[in-house]
Amino acid sequence: MKPCAIVTGAAGLIGQYFIKNASRWAPDWDVHGLTRAELDLTDHAAVERAWRRLKPRVVIHCAALSRTKDCEQDPQRARLINVDATAYLAHLSNEIPFFFLSSGEVFDGRAGWYKETDEPTPINYYGKTKLEAEQQVLHNPRHTVVRIVLTAGTSQNGDRSFVEDMCRAATDGRSMTLYADEYRCPLPAGAIARAVWELSGKNTPGLYHLGGRDRLSRWEIGQALLPWYPELEGHLIKGTARGHSGAPRPADLSLNCEKLQALLSFRLPGFRGWLTDRMHRGADLWDYDTQA
Ligand SMILES: NC(=O)c1ccc[n+]([C@@H]2O[C@H](COP(=O)([O-])OP(=O)(O)OC[C@H]3O[C@@H](n4cnc5c(N)ncnc54)[C@H](OP(=O)(O)O)[C@@H]3O)[C@@H](O)[C@H]2O)c1
Repeated sequence: MKPCAIVTGAAGLIGQYFIKNASRWAPDWDVHGLTRAELDLTDHAAVERAWRRLKPRVVIHCAALSRTKDCEQDPQRARLINVDATAYLAHLSNEIPFFFLSSGEVFDGRAGWYKETDEPTPINYYGKTKLEAEQQVLHNPRHTVVRIVLTAGTSQNGDRSFVEDMCRAATDGRSMTLYADEYRCPLPAGAIARAVWELSGKNTPGLYHLGGRDRLSRWEIGQALLPWYPELEGHLIKGTARGHSGAPRPADLSLNCEKLQALLSFRLPGFRGWLTDRMHRGADLWDYDTQA
């Protein structure tokens, strides 16, 4: 019998890619995806029962309140799932490898190309909860934090990723303002799943950055998507983050990923290169299914 690997947030954007790629990137594991419908991770007694029943040998923790706006609006809920549930899962996983997906939002975005050794100074509540959870997780030398970035992908219900948000807005006839002075290094969800599955087999716990090779503005990201999503044509407006209202947004969250890259069997892609090289054969654009 194969040992059990648990993936939390299995119905979420990135969790879905961990599950559907498991037979390819994690063939030695019996991968068990947990959705919120199955198990509310803020119910500690139920979580403990599940851990006792499943006896995981590795945990990849993707569940979160992942939208900045939702965290600002409901800080109590954000804390329960992002910090308290993460700390409890890490506690239950005391003796085994535990991989926590954190975010580049732990940085203030003034510098860009952040390394793992750079001082995190979050400017929104989401970033603060992720940083606090990181600190709890990294108390255990067996555990790993992977800070990821803007993730491209599609989900079962079409309501998870920024690509889906953009397409829905266009279909509804709405326009979107994309900031030309806000930078990210987007990565396809399939690349994140592959990288973390690979890392899980290395026995190299600690803190890692995982982002795409290209640093692009939100506006450039929108332009790169146009050939693939022609419905966006005419709905993208070039804007500036100056005068932005709402949850504070870090200006530049590009990540230096050399530490993780040195451990991986494949080259982390750039967003434009991924799209350009990609031959569309009807498969998921954001996965490795047809990618060399
Ligand atoms: N996507 C990005 O661009 C991005 C960037 C940086 C970091 N991250 C981090 O990467 C991880 C995965 O992100 P994602 O994009 O896949 O997020 P997502 O699509 O929002 O998925 C998160 C999942 O967590 C589940 N969840 C929330 N509260 C829960 C609870 N109390 N009990 C059990 N499950 C619960 C959600 O359930 P429901 O489906 O029922 O809502 C959802 O399926 C998160 O830690 C996120 O902070 C994501």
